[in-house]
Amino acid sequence: MIRINENYMLLQASYLFSTIARKISEFQEKNPDAEIIRLGIGDTTRALPDACIKAFHRAVDEMAQDATFRGYGPEQGYPFLREKIAAHDYRDRGMDISADEIFISDGAKCDTGNFQEILSPDIRVAVPDPVYPVYVDTNVMAGRTGGYKNGRYENLVYLECTEKNNFIPSLPEEPVDLIYLCFPNNPTGAAITREELAKWVDYAEQNRALILYDAAYEAFIRDETLPKSIYEIKGARKVAVEFKSFSKTAGFTGTRCAYTVVPRECSAWDENGKPHPLHALWNRRHCTKFNGVSYPVQRAAEAVYTNKGQKQVAAIIAGYMKNADRIRQEVDELRLPYAGGLHSPYIWIKTCGNSWEFFDMLLEKARVVCTPGEGFGSCGKAFIRLSAFNDYKSVDTAMRRFSAAVKHGG
Ligand code: MLT
Repeated sequence: MIRINENYMLLQASYLFSTIARKISEFQEKNPDAEIIRLGIGDTTRALPDACIKAFHRAVDEMAQDATFRGYGPEQGYPFLREKIAAHDYRDRGMDISADEIFISDGAKCDTGNFQEILSPDIRVAVPDPVYPVYVDTNVMAGRTGGYKNGRYENLVYLECTEKNNFIPSLPEEPVDLIYLCFPNNPTGAAITREELAKWVDYAEQNRALILYDAAYEAFIRDETLPKSIYEIKGARKVAVEFKSFSKTAGFTGTRCAYTVVPRECSAWDENGKPHPLHALWNRRHCTKFNGVSYPVQRAAEAVYTNKGQKQVAAIIAGYMKNADRIRQEVDELRLPYAGGLHSPYIWIKTCGNSWEFFDMLLEKARVVCTPGEGFGSCGKAFIRLSAFNDYKSVDTAMRRFSAAVKHGG
């Protein structure tokens, strides 16, 4: 008799963004003329930078000739891209990361979800609350949690991010082995300082723990003193793996390209207390389960690092941040407490009521989609998240409608 992985029975019925997509389709079906504005899922809306498109086209043309055609590429990514990343995102910013420590992949979602596979099923895992649901669900699938009770899984350590701590979690009070951190944060938009991040690196060093650091939104940081990478912190090479993505930075959400940094010094231990480099284990997994990102996509990503690419990416980000400023302006005027939007495309807004009810109200009255905070964890119950990924005109219209709905019915 073929049996299922029973851990899947512990999961909530549907992935957060699938539930929201279903609710939107149902609403649209009932209200075919409603012009819905989506500030829900963090999906980019602006075209790929021209430099990337040109490189993409050139690479596609290479695939059309036998002489320049490419079949399987290196699973870890082409050296041309790994070297550019190491130089621009790390060495030029004073960090010691080499090209062979970078693994190109098709998304930070997949990598943050998959990385736990190379770690023991027995480890104790800490996640922020609220949290990007992928970190939690993949650990549930792996059997590291108990059942789901009152909005939380048993055996997970939740690091609360609330107004009281400015959405920066405190160190865990009980020992943990694996810690997920994401800054600028999804969903709260909070950014961490070097001093705060250094406390986590110290904790990991002292407790032989590992930090999985999701920096997918680093390009939105506007204050140069805030860390864009965990490797800006001394000692992080030993205790942290970092995930970055071209999705939000350069509009690759549909094109798919990201990378994971696994420094050579970063280890985990076996049952006899012998250390094993995570680089070798991740490489083993990656080569077994992944055949690399397509050649044209890697060429398109490489073009991000040209002068033109850098300027075009900066203009795209500035456009989204103008939207974030518009959202903050309206929320300020409404005097709703909020976080984020300064170094992040996400604005985390306190609505007082239940966040799913607010979601329904906003869709019904304003035809605007938000993300209910409860979908990110129990600390998000009274919050909603607005995303700045849209065009300015739509964001402006959405915020006028948002205001009217909050004033008259929220
Ligand atoms: C989000 O809206 O939280 C993100 O788009 C999710 C993701 O990047 O997978």
